[in-house]
Amino acid sequence: MPRPLPPFPPTEHGQMLERAAARIHAGGLVAFPTETVYGLGADATSPQAVAAVFALKGRPSHNPLIIHVTGEDMAQRYAARWPARARALARAFWPGPLSIIVPRGPLIPDAVAAGGPTIAVRAPDHPLALALLFAVGRPLVGPSANPSGGVSPTTAAHVTGHWSDQQVMVLDGGACATGIESTVVFAAADDQPVRILRPGVIGPAALSAALGEPVRLPAHAPAANAPEPLASPGLLASHYAPAAPALLFTDATWPDVLARAQAGGASSPAVLLTHRPRTAPGLRILTLPADAPAYAAALYSALRQADAARPAFIAIDTPPDPADASLSPEHAAIWLAVADRLARATAPR
Ligand code: TXA
Ligand code: MG
Repeated sequence: MPRPLPPFPPTEHGQMLERAAARIHAGGLVAFPTETVYGLGADATSPQAVAAVFALKGRPSHNPLIIHVTGEDMAQRYAARWPARARALARAFWPGPLSIIVPRGPLIPDAVAAGGPTIAVRAPDHPLALALLFAVGRPLVGPSANPSGGVSPTTAAHVTGHWSDQQVMVLDGGACATGIESTVVFAAADDQPVRILRPGVIGPAALSAALGEPVRLPAHAPAANAPEPLASPGLLASHYAPAAPALLFTDATWPDVLARAQAGGASSPAVLLTHRPRTAPGLRILTLPADAPAYAAALYSALRQADAARPAFIAIDTPPDPADASLSPEHAAIWLAVADRLARATAPR
């Protein structure tokens, strides 16, 4: 059964939502909170509005956008078909952090899908996002509200730090609870099992339980930024990256980090991001929670904070191994998604 919709927000929000919806109807951009990260919203049926999103983000035109919907009804109106596996997943996880790739219908312009035959759709689990979608009455594209390749925003202030109110109206819904982007799954083919293209907090165990069959796991990160159509261009090697060089280290390579920090001198001390107790002479320490959900929720803010100090480099403690058999399936899924984002944040550029 679909979950009941959250109550429509109180009236002071009502006026703000009316302004936001008017802005969208006029082809403008409105950033909105979701449970994962803030999205850069625009009318998904308008080629001009969609072009404005690509232009503002500096997003390559070969990287398709996610479409946000109120639920299964709206999704089905914009999909060419609604495969049985998409239905099962939407009923199990919407509203929630799962983007489902299905065949594209004729009402969605080419640019949204980077010219391809599919679209990624999701119903966000956030009262403001859902209220905006209902007020607009149309699907909204919603890439993360950050310049392309950078760290996704998890607060309204992160978004206003990138763009002016003239460029983007920002709906402030506080900090995002999940903190990393949705799981992206391919469910467009009737004769293929569901494939995870981008790991997220909804992991393989939960997906296969809902489907009653195994799912295919994410492929390894490609070795380099490939310019041309990829299965999911968000899988570009370098992505989610801070401006400062970032590296992942283990206990074995920790002495190298200390040596490198010492060699760098004191002018721009390196930053250490860790979820473990460490003493680190010569480094500025930012501590992340050791608990998987709390770590994910705090990660992007911490990366931004580390970057703001313009450090010589950012050293990140390798989080727990997602394959560790003692982890719950929920925590294993989160650490897998975190490992994916950190691999991209530290990939060669
Ligand atoms: O949690 C999220 O998904 C956030 C919030 C705002 O909803 N949005 C988000 O959007 O992360 P974006 O555009 O930053 O990431 C969308 C990902 C990209 O990796 C893109 O390549 C992939 O989804 N994608 C979108 N449409 C696709 C399609 N038709 N086929 C394959 N991959 C697709
Ligand atoms: Mg993004």
